[in-house]
Amino acid sequence: MSDSIGIVVLAAGKGTRLKLDLAKALCPIQGKTLVDYVLKEVDSFVNEHSLNSSTSLVVGHLKESVISHIEHNHQEKKIQFASQKEQLGTADALKSYFDNINNAWSQKYTLVICADTPLISSDELSILFQKIKSDESLVGVAATFETNDPTGYGRIVKGGNGFKIIEEKDASTSEKLVKEVNSGLYILKTEHIKNHLFSIDSKNKSNEYYLTDLFQQDFKVEACLFDNEISFLGVNNLKQLETCARYLQSKKIESLQLEGVRFINSSNCYIEDDVEIASGSVIYPSVNLFGETKIGNNCVIETGVTIKNSTIKEQVNILAHSYIEEAFVDSFTSIGPMARLRTGSSIGESCKIGNFVETKKVELSKGVKVSHLSYVGDAQIGENTNIGCGFITCNYDGANKHKTIIGKNSFIGSDCQMIAPIELGDEVYIGSGSTINQNVQTGAFAIARQRQVTRPDMAKKFIKTKKQS
Ligand code: UD1
Ligand code: MG
Repeated sequence: MSDSIGIVVLAAGKGTRLKLDLAKALCPIQGKTLVDYVLKEVDSFVNEHSLNSSTSLVVGHLKESVISHIEHNHQEKKIQFASQKEQLGTADALKSYFDNINNAWSQKYTLVICADTPLISSDELSILFQKIKSDESLVGVAATFETNDPTGYGRIVKGGNGFKIIEEKDASTSEKLVKEVNSGLYILKTEHIKNHLFSIDSKNKSNEYYLTDLFQQDFKVEACLFDNEISFLGVNNLKQLETCARYLQSKKIESLQLEGVRFINSSNCYIEDDVEIASGSVIYPSVNLFGETKIGNNCVIETGVTIKNSTIKEQVNILAHSYIEEAFVDSFTSIGPMARLRTGSSIGESCKIGNFVETKKVELSKGVKVSHLSYVGDAQIGENTNIGCGFITCNYDGANKHKTIIGKNSFIGSDCQMIAPIELGDEVYIGSGSTINQNVQTGAFAIARQRQVTRPDMAKKFIKTKKQS
């Protein structure tokens, strides 16, 4: 039977220093939120050690939004919530946890982690756990690190059996010089918390109840000094948020590179955490890939391309400055340059979508070509049909959207409009410059434009020449 451990994520704080109108735990980072990263690593830690554990979140400021986010995104983790009524400090947050979570006191260990430290990985959690398990007399361990700029962190002041943590505001001039600082990650024996949590007072410069007071020089506590400072960076302001985001970004890109994705200049690409790219693909500079985008093998994604929540299969070329959202692009297809695939665009295998083409809610079968300057919306186009330049589906009547259906192996000349709802069969041929408002049956030729009138020698009547002065 493994040791039991209660895991508490502190996420009730106001995050005042961020100056954002949202719960700090939900601060966006790499397409996720701060708390998502923390929960992911906690989960890996629990699985790696097959721990008998339960995870809880202390919520307070804007708690409804935090709870709803967790319920939508981490349902399977069965996270419990403890509400902290007033944000009176981290020790008060821990009290809320023990007051609200049923089995909290019965766990042998309690791990405390802050929702604002997204770079801590399961490795650090494991090292800390091994530390407290290595010596049964230890009542608590805190993860610490040394930094040249300790501003804002609690300082580790050693002495006696252990150490105490002095917050920046309460530190004397000499204490402020201490470079070893508290990361905000701890594992304590639950028994120790029971003995001391309720005697913590708020007699300090912030008038807050400090959880860090569970560490004292006469307690058998140990500071576990890590040498990877960056892993413990706390996000208290937007500068620190960007530093964390850049770090996560570089890790993401590195992992893609090791999987065989070639970046021409990764330093100015933005690739969110859930994006998947298969080996052999090449990513040009200034590419932005968001959400759950998946890119298959051997694709080329050129400069300035943005793709959101879309699936791109193998050997697709997305040419420069195309914008793709919630779309599907099948293998061997070419998109762009400067094409826009909007929500619900499904582009088949070996298609060509050329420059200045916009699509929305379309289903294009294999081999369809829409090569230049077109709008294709609410449409279905059959295999190998060629759509000429300047094509428009007139899908909107001012109130409702209507569908255009064109069969396979058809040829639509340049500058044609389809007044939807409309249906064209297979192998139809539409003359250039036609405005089609009646269905066209399979095999038919249709043309809908005025006959040309030509008057010999009449041009001079219309051509204006400048008067000579
Ligand atoms: C805290 C530590 C500091 C450490 C630093 C590391 C204390 C007193 N100080 O300071 O020693 O160096 O983290 O990043 O713990 N929270 C609540 N309820 C509250 C107050 C805070 O849930 O009433 C939560 C916050 O949402 C946050 C975490 O606790 O996730 C830490 O709070 P924060 O205000 O960021 O503390 P720091 O000043 O960073
Ligand atoms: Mg903090």
